[in-house]
Amino acid sequence: MTVPQISVVVPTYNEAGNIAMTYDGLAQALAGRAWELVVVDDDSPDGTADAVRALARQHDNVRCIQRVQERGLASAVHWGVQAAHGEVIVVMDGDLQHEPALIPKMLEALQAGHDIVSGSRFLEGGAEKGLSQRRRRLSDWGNRLTNRFLGTTLSDPLTGFFATSRRLFLDSIPQMQADGFKVFFDLVYHNRHVTIRELPFEFQRRQHGESKLDLYVLWLLACDIASKLSRGMLPPRLISFVGVGLIGSIFHFTILYASMDLGAVFWLSQAIATVVAMVFNFTINNVLTYSDDRLRGATFYKGLLLYSLIASIGIVANVSTAQIAYLQLHGHTFIAATTGLVIDVIWRFVVSNRLIWGR
Ligand code: GDD
Ligand code: MN
Repeated sequence: MTVPQISVVVPTYNEAGNIAMTYDGLAQALAGRAWELVVVDDDSPDGTADAVRALARQHDNVRCIQRVQERGLASAVHWGVQAAHGEVIVVMDGDLQHEPALIPKMLEALQAGHDIVSGSRFLEGGAEKGLSQRRRRLSDWGNRLTNRFLGTTLSDPLTGFFATSRRLFLDSIPQMQADGFKVFFDLVYHNRHVTIRELPFEFQRRQHGESKLDLYVLWLLACDIASKLSRGMLPPRLISFVGVGLIGSIFHFTILYASMDLGAVFWLSQAIATVVAMVFNFTINNVLTYSDDRLRGATFYKGLLLYSLIASIGIVANVSTAQIAYLQLHGHTFIAATTGLVIDVIWRFVVSNRLIWGR
C-alpha cells in the first residue's frame, strides 16, 4: 500500500449498518488519491468493529482501532489522529450524515492556504434536513454561545466535519479536551490565529442507528466554556457536577416546603427532600456529567447505593470541617458553612468520579 496522503478519521459507536457505505462514498470521492480510513470504535455492542475488520480484509487502506476501556467521541478522534499516517486529516461522522463529496473541495481549500476547513450545515448553500426542530434550536443556542466565546463568526462552530493538517492537529491535542465531542470547537479555540474556511454542505438524515448526542450537547458545551474561562483550573466535569448539585438543591427546597405544606414535620420533610435530591443528583449526573460512562440496569442501582454511602461520608466531613472552621474563625457562620460545603462537594466529586464512573 502506498503511503496515504489523506487520513479520514471516523469515530463510531453502533454504526455497523453504515460503515460499508461510508467507505464506498469515500472511495468514490477520493478516487485517484492516496487515502486511508481510520475507524475508532468504542467496542460497539452492534459489532461495528467486526464490520470494519471485514472491510479491512477487502481494502488495504482501512484500519480499525477498537477501544475497550475508553469511551467518547472527542478522545476517539484524538486516537485516530495519533494513529493516522496522512499529512492531511479529515474528521467525519460514520453515520452517512456527512457527504464525502465535500472532501475534495476541502482539500482544495487547504491547498489554497487555509489551515482548517470545515463543512457547515448552516452556511448559505448548505442545508440541514437531518436536524429536527429541537436539535436546530439547540444548535442555534450552541452556535451563539460558542461564537461569543471564541470571538468568531462561524456559521457552524459545532460541526463534526472538518479537515486540517496532521501537524496542526497533533500539536493541539495535548491542550485539547478529551471529554465530550466538541472537537472542532476545541481545535479552533487552541488555534485562533490560523485561517479557517467554511464550506456549505447538506447534512443528511440518519438512515441507520440513532444519534447519541442530544440535550446534554448544550450542557456539556456550557461546562466546557466555563472550564476554559477558569483557565482549565476547574475541569468541565466538576462544573457539571456542581451545576447538577445546584439544581438538586432547588429540588430539595421545593420538596421540603411541599411536604411541610402537606403537614409533615420538619425532620421528616428534610429527610425526604435529602433522599430525593440525592437520587436526583445521582441520576442526572449519570446522564449529563457522565454521559460517556453512563451506568445502566443493575450497575445503576449499585452506583446509587455507593453514591449514597459516599454522600453520607461527605456530610460527616462537611460538618466536622465546618465545625473546626467555625471554632477557628470565632463563629463566622457563612465562611465556616461554605468551607464545609466545598469539602463535601470536592469529596463527593473526586470519589464518585473514580469509584462509580471509573474516570
Ligand atoms: N468512538 C466513538 N465513541 N464514537 C462515537 C461516540 C463515542 O462515544 N459517540 C458518538 N460517536 C460517533 C457516532 O457513531 C458517529 O459516527 C459520530 O460519532 C457522530 O455521532 P452522532 O451521535 O451521529 O452525532 P450527531 O449526528 O447527533 O451530532 C453531529 O452534530 C454535532 C453538533 O451538533 C456530529 O457531527 C457531531 O460531531 C457534532 O458535534
Ligand atoms: Mn450523526
